[in-house]
Amino acid sequence: MIGIIGSMKIEIDGIIDRMEEKEETVISGITFAKGLVSGVETVVAICGTGKVSASVCTQTMIMKYAPDVIINTGVAGSLSENLHIGDIAISESMVQHDVDISELGYALGYLCELELVYLPVDPKAKKIMVECVENAGVNYEIGVIASGDQFISAQAKKDAIKSNFNAIACEMEGGSIAQTCYMNQTPFCIIRAISDEANGEASIDYTIFASKAAKNAINITLEFIKKFNAENSEQE
Ligand code: ADE
Repeated sequence: MIGIIGSMKIEIDGIIDRMEEKEETVISGITFAKGLVSGVETVVAICGTGKVSASVCTQTMIMKYAPDVIINTGVAGSLSENLHIGDIAISESMVQHDVDISELGYALGYLCELELVYLPVDPKAKKIMVECVENAGVNYEIGVIASGDQFISAQAKKDAIKSNFNAIACEMEGGSIAQTCYMNQTPFCIIRAISDEANGEASIDYTIFASKAAKNAINITLEFIKKFNAENSEQE
């Protein structure tokens, strides 16, 4: 089974619309829709905004459905000069830019219990995701994606996240989905379409472009579901 998480309805509706034999279960106020997408067993959830909601959703999805892989699809602000509105960021690894115990001598973003800053995505899922983006002919970049409980819209904050973590995009859930998957040994991959450039115009751009950008990530995620399933079935 493939698990798909998005933080908002606009990031997920295009997948739920295609689901057949849908069965819904509500846990902790989050609706999990299980069914067939292109004939592939899939569970889909809208986690809500921010890291706590995303962790609750991910842990619940893992415990109830034990998916083979979890994909987080949605939108992000660009931190890279190569990524513009509508383009795609694929994560090499995830970081939580608002985790800061540097006063105690640790690196920014350091997760003490896991003893790391960067949470690596599943290489196999990433490879398939990259193939899907290339087939779609959309401009993309692979790199670090940074998450925190803030919408980034100030140049100084953007520059700090970029230089502290060498990140290409910022959003508000992927890092906690990654940590929850990592703690449960569940493979994960994050795909985000650019809705804004995380600068002074971000709130206006986001309002105009988020919905359209989200569709780009959804279309690639739909292709991923087919390809991941085909490659997994070949190996069985
Ligand atoms: N998601 C989309 N754009 C974002 C931004 N600028 N900051 C945080 N999350 C986002």
